[in-house]
Amino acid sequence: MTTDVVDPTTPLYVQLADAIAAQISDGVHPPGSRIPSVRRLREQHGVSVTTAVEACRLLEARGLVQARPRSGYFVERTPRAEGLEPGAPASPMRARRVDAALSMKLNLGIGNPQRPTLGAAVQGTELMAIATLNRLLGQALRLQPTVCHSYDAPPGSPILRRAVAQHGLDAGYAVSPDDIVITSGAKEAVYLSIRAVTRPGDTVAIESPAYYALLEVLASLDLRVVEVPAHPRRGIDLVALAKVLGRQPIAAVAIVSNFSNPSGSCMVDTDKRALVDLLDTYDVPLIEDDVYGDLAFEGARPKAVKAFDTQGRVLYCGSFSKTVSPGLRVGWAIPGRYQNDFEHLKLVVNQASPTAPQVAMAGFVESGGFDRHLRRVRRRYAEQMQQMIDAVDRTFPDGTRHTDPRGGHVLWVQVPGLDSLDLYDRAAARGIHIAPGPLFSASGAFRDHLRLNTGFPWTDQIAAQVDELGRLVTAAAR
Ligand SMILES: Cc1ncc(COP(=O)(O)O)c(C=O)c1O
Repeated sequence: MTTDVVDPTTPLYVQLADAIAAQISDGVHPPGSRIPSVRRLREQHGVSVTTAVEACRLLEARGLVQARPRSGYFVERTPRAEGLEPGAPASPMRARRVDAALSMKLNLGIGNPQRPTLGAAVQGTELMAIATLNRLLGQALRLQPTVCHSYDAPPGSPILRRAVAQHGLDAGYAVSPDDIVITSGAKEAVYLSIRAVTRPGDTVAIESPAYYALLEVLASLDLRVVEVPAHPRRGIDLVALAKVLGRQPIAAVAIVSNFSNPSGSCMVDTDKRALVDLLDTYDVPLIEDDVYGDLAFEGARPKAVKAFDTQGRVLYCGSFSKTVSPGLRVGWAIPGRYQNDFEHLKLVVNQASPTAPQVAMAGFVESGGFDRHLRRVRRRYAEQMQQMIDAVDRTFPDGTRHTDPRGGHVLWVQVPGLDSLDLYDRAAARGIHIAPGPLFSASGAFRDHLRLNTGFPWTDQIAAQVDELGRLVTAAAR
């Protein structure tokens, strides 16, 4: 490397990407221009082809350049959405304890999930497959009473694990049913994964903003966190993560890879590959929560980071809660090299997950019903998201920014000057529940953000709630 790069523990490709990023910001490579080819980078910086390619991929993942087939990498022109969506937060990226008091308090007031709510990230029962699942549950209990009333010790139902392995092919991971452990929802999978790879006092790197229940898990296990900024479209900032990994011992990294909660960000494949490479370099496990990946609004389902994992260091966590039914509590983990520890912990914590829902869910997937259901609901979620965006654009004050997720059912909104905790109280007094920004941070950040749930079919009642919220926000942000 001929550039004056600082930290020698930073991987070479990250150093090279940083150097090119600096050149882009200095105007050496203006928007729309081509950056030096891989061969040129190799000559200029004395690095291998692989390092040069990885650096370009990282720049692409950061949204700085765009690959054009057979032409090379071109500097992105400023995307139109930039400035309209919340920015990635500045973060001191220091290890800190998690204060979960706020989430414990707000959790209680987040609303009755059976009624449409803007607060909790839950979906309407119209978007579940209740009738079919009821039939399959009845069938399971009738035809397999002994199985259904017995413990299904870890790793769980063989037919469900086979169904999950088939389903996983869409997410790009090809694993055997033996690699899968059934859990009671993704939350248990995340909890057990974190326990399997950490000890109290360890530090875990997380994306910021982060799923608040992850913060609760980390707090309950007496872990410290480093919050790594995440881009609202592309997810965790890999350059920042590389710096964190190079600076201090990190026991694990935890992210929601596809349509994250609350930001809706979805990592691109090059980023996913680069993340795995980075973690291989530092020998750090990844806890990947992918509960929203199946809810892509259009096109192919995004791949899981697990798809790029050749070392078994990704502990993948999935569930049917967001797609089919949160109440049946059927989830799974693919814990890779940590499977023995994971299975033991599952046994310690609750012996086994209920059997009948596993049998019913297996039938749903294997019959093709799950895929048909997904095709139907993905379109509905896209419509609901657009209806919410239109309503926010109409009723929130000028200067409001929001994300534009391509899947899932949460919208992340920033209103400069807003105190979302105060808004939470005012809105709750009118029967409207929201999730205020600081809920998604270990350090109380995102005070001027809020998360809106778009999981319910649009109704006049929801429209009226967003109108009312818009009035409250406008008054509060003055
Ligand atoms: C990112 C994320 N992970 C996990 C969960 C919980 O999943 P489960 O109900 O399968 O435990 C949620 C629910 O809101 C979520 O948003």
